[in-house]
Amino acid sequence: MSKMEAPVIEVENLSKSFGTNRVLKNFSMKVPAGKNLVILGKSGSGKSVLIKCIISLMTPDDGLIKIFGEDVSTYDSDALDKLRARIGFLFQSNALYDSMTVRDNLEFPLRRHWNKEQRAKSAKQAVLEVLEDVGLAHTIDMMPSELSGGMRKRIALARTLILQPQIILYDEPTTGLDPITGREISHLILQVQKKYNATSIIISHDMNCINITSNSVIMLIDGMRYAQDTFAALQHYDDPKIHEFFLTT
Ligand SMILES: Nc1ncnc2c1ncn2[C@@H]1O[C@H](COP(=O)(O)OP(=O)(O)OP(=O)(O)O)[C@@H](O)[C@H]1O
Ligand SMILES: [Mg+2]
Repeated sequence: MSKMEAPVIEVENLSKSFGTNRVLKNFSMKVPAGKNLVILGKSGSGKSVLIKCIISLMTPDDGLIKIFGEDVSTYDSDALDKLRARIGFLFQSNALYDSMTVRDNLEFPLRRHWNKEQRAKSAKQAVLEVLEDVGLAHTIDMMPSELSGGMRKRIALARTLILQPQIILYDEPTTGLDPITGREISHLILQVQKKYNATSIIISHDMNCINITSNSVIMLIDGMRYAQDTFAALQHYDDPKIHEFFLTT
């Protein structure tokens, strides 16, 4: 991989308003291949809106979104479907199906994106592999209600991994977990980055998670990319709007 390689995700001058509420204002960013980019911003700053624009669940008012070098606004629904199979999305709520076993939850994405022969041949192995990735092979026949919060998060991550996505979007992956479990999930995100060479956007306000997972951090403030730097460097900025994120009391 050369340094000249195009970014996997590129956002240029993205703007999005709801009525008079201007959420994103000329927001731009690039996510290089294989990197973890964290988006840090206050509640209501537009983090989820940004992610929704990237996966075309929302249409921007203005600006350009390129994924794998292509302008996604030109895609028809077929092309979008294929693109979405290459993008894993870990919901804050996990979004597991409560009435299905772990195995059935993990096989669910395969029903949409693999044909019958592929599933007959490889589904079992794929389920086992992602369960091993997240350290929960023994839960295969359990129901989500029998799992702890941290385990459910791992299963949701396993389901995200089963289609071997090249891009993973994490929405608050450690929120609601205790600090130790949160740290385990953060380390799992790092392992996934290495094993799958995934390019990821991680939305988080969890300083430990950001410290562990980020290659680079964008501060989303006033709808703009207010600053971008490493986590370590951002802590030493004098700017009060940045500084307040790092106050511990
Ligand atoms: N579908 C919508 N219709 C109208 N306003 C919306 C819609 N979606 C988001 N907004 C507004 O856009 C702003 C940004 O919302 P967003 O959900 O992106 O915030 P966030 O940064 O993800 O916050 P949180 O950390 O609380 O999840 C908010 O003011 C919200 O009310
Ligand atoms: Mg949000």
